[in-house]
Amino acid sequence: MSTDAIVLLKNDHKEIKKTFDAFEKAGENAHAEKGRLVEKMIELLTAHTYIENEVMYPRVRDLLPDLEDDVLESYEEHHVADVLCFELSSMSPDDERYEAKATVLIENVTHHIEEEEEEWFPKVREGLGRKKLQEIGERMLELKEKAPRKPSQPGALKKAIDALTA
Ligand SMILES: [Fe+2]
Ligand SMILES: [Fe+2]
Repeated sequence: MSTDAIVLLKNDHKEIKKTFDAFEKAGENAHAEKGRLVEKMIELLTAHTYIENEVMYPRVRDLLPDLEDDVLESYEEHHVADVLCFELSSMSPDDERYEAKATVLIENVTHHIEEEEEEWFPKVREGLGRKKLQEIGERMLELKEKAPRKPSQPGALKKAIDALTA
């Protein structure tokens, strides 16, 4: 299995997008199924943004100062996703605002993933090279094992509270 940081993050993106597609295809009244899918996307997103925030973003910011603006914009996009995940995790799937909120989460994250994959990952690959990316990937894999999977878990909760009170 590749430990290249960009390959690992793109694999996560693929898995996240699968839950988005399934949500969009679920029937209008499939509240229980949509609830399960949202739970799954929150789990995947919580772990994914955690390893990006803790490892990938700070390393890129350090090593490639030219990409600072991209990194700062990405942190802000994570912040929006954190707020929405936190709110969704305490809502019931038959709440009037549930579907709308999940749709906004999906739209925001889809845009964010596109920007990562199309705009800044290619620059990161060029700037860091294979060896550095493997080293960063290994660190992310290590951290992923203990990454929070729910917005209410310690590492994630602090992030969510920061997001809500910033
Ligand atoms: Fe991200
Ligand atoms: Fe990402």
